[in-house]
Amino acid sequence: MGKKAIDILSIDVSKLINMLNAALSEEWLAYYQYWIGSRLMEGPMRSEIEPELLLHATQELNHAVLVVNRIIQLGGTPVINPKEWFKLTRCEYDEPADPYVEVILEQNLNGERCAIQRYKEIADFTNGKDHTTHQMATTILNEELEHENDIEEWITDINRMKEELRKIRL
Ligand SMILES: [Fe+2]
Ligand SMILES: [Fe+2]
Repeated sequence: MGKKAIDILSIDVSKLINMLNAALSEEWLAYYQYWIGSRLMEGPMRSEIEPELLLHATQELNHAVLVVNRIIQLGGTPVINPKEWFKLTRCEYDEPADPYVEVILEQNLNGERCAIQRYKEIADFTNGKDHTTHQMATTILNEELEHENDIEEWITDINRMKEELRKIRL
């Protein structure tokens, strides 16, 4: 990033880089949690939900690309060792030990809510001070909000399906 570009940022750049490295760690963990969860998942609507979870996984990876690019532009060093991910993340990595679809969805939902909080904070921190990072954070935030909404809808659909089955049995 050019000298003038860094000068015009009226912001604590090292604090921002720390926040971005935490977000980067969370994206990789979210990517893997989605990806391995979709591979292991069992239960109702599996064939419908699995490709959607893989799409979410790809989108988390794209977020990681955006965040890394911004860290480098700001003159920072992106996390270079996965061991650091667990030190920097604030989101739980929920291992999908139980492959039941609803359990996997709940785990991913927690991850999305954690990501929403992260990008809200980055957006607030950079608001009016670093337009480029602010724009990136709001773009990613919008996708995380869509992810949360997708998962909530699948959980609602599964519950409705279970309710219908219960009525049939009565
Ligand atoms: Fe993400
Ligand atoms: Fe997400």
